[in-house]
Amino acid sequence: MLPLLNGRSGASIVRQRAQGLYELDFDMAFFEANKIVAGLLTAGVVALGSSFVAELIFEGHEPEEHAYQIATVGETDEPTQMESAEPEAAPEITLASLLANADPAAGEKVAKKCKACHTFERGGANRIGPNLYGMLGRKIASHDGFKYSDALQAKSGEAWNYEGLDGFLASPKAWAPGTKMSFAGVKKPEDRAALLAYLRLQSANPPPLPE
Ligand code: HEC
Repeated sequence: MLPLLNGRSGASIVRQRAQGLYELDFDMAFFEANKIVAGLLTAGVVALGSSFVAELIFEGHEPEEHAYQIATVGETDEPTQMESAEPEAAPEITLASLLANADPAAGEKVAKKCKACHTFERGGANRIGPNLYGMLGRKIASHDGFKYSDALQAKSGEAWNYEGLDGFLASPKAWAPGTKMSFAGVKKPEDRAALLAYLRLQSANPPPLPE
């Protein structure tokens, strides 16, 4: 049995002391926190005050130009490489922009590849492939007297536009699986745009260029 002190057991005194210590610790922590906050506030006031003083001192003495300039070699107004690497800064190469700059004369050279199977002039004969005069704007697979594949006939509800023809000429087999045009495709977008510009001239009434 533990001895009784003022009617309280030793254990309860220990518990009380521990509680007291804990409260003391808490008070100390609170005090410390106060000191930190006060310190931060002081620092803020000092910073504000000094910038205010600095403004007073330099007021009306704003230099026209910076006292020194960091000139880099070859510095221009052009965006830096870092800037141009941003996606929105990179110019998008669209079919419309390629067509706007396309050269029909270059396209005629590309069209030599087609002439093994196609004629381009008005009223030209169908060969292995149909005559291509007035192709742009005309219904797909609609040239008289030519027997088209099922693959191309399945698309005969639409007319040839620039995007469609560009896709077909990039890879006939990918654009119209099952087509009987055995031609690998014109790989370079610039060459296809030139070819489209040439095809556009082989027409009495070509559709307007895409915007
Ligand atoms: C090896 C022969 C061959 C070559 C080379 C070829 N074509 Fe064709 N082309 C065909 C055949 C065959 C068709 C019919 C395809 C079908 O019915 O699936 C066709 C269809 C087309 C059509 C669709 C015509 C329509 O009435 O809807 C276009 C447009 C076309 N060719 C353009 C070209 C162009 C431009 C080139 C050159 C870059 C080219 N072709 C090269 C054989 C060829």
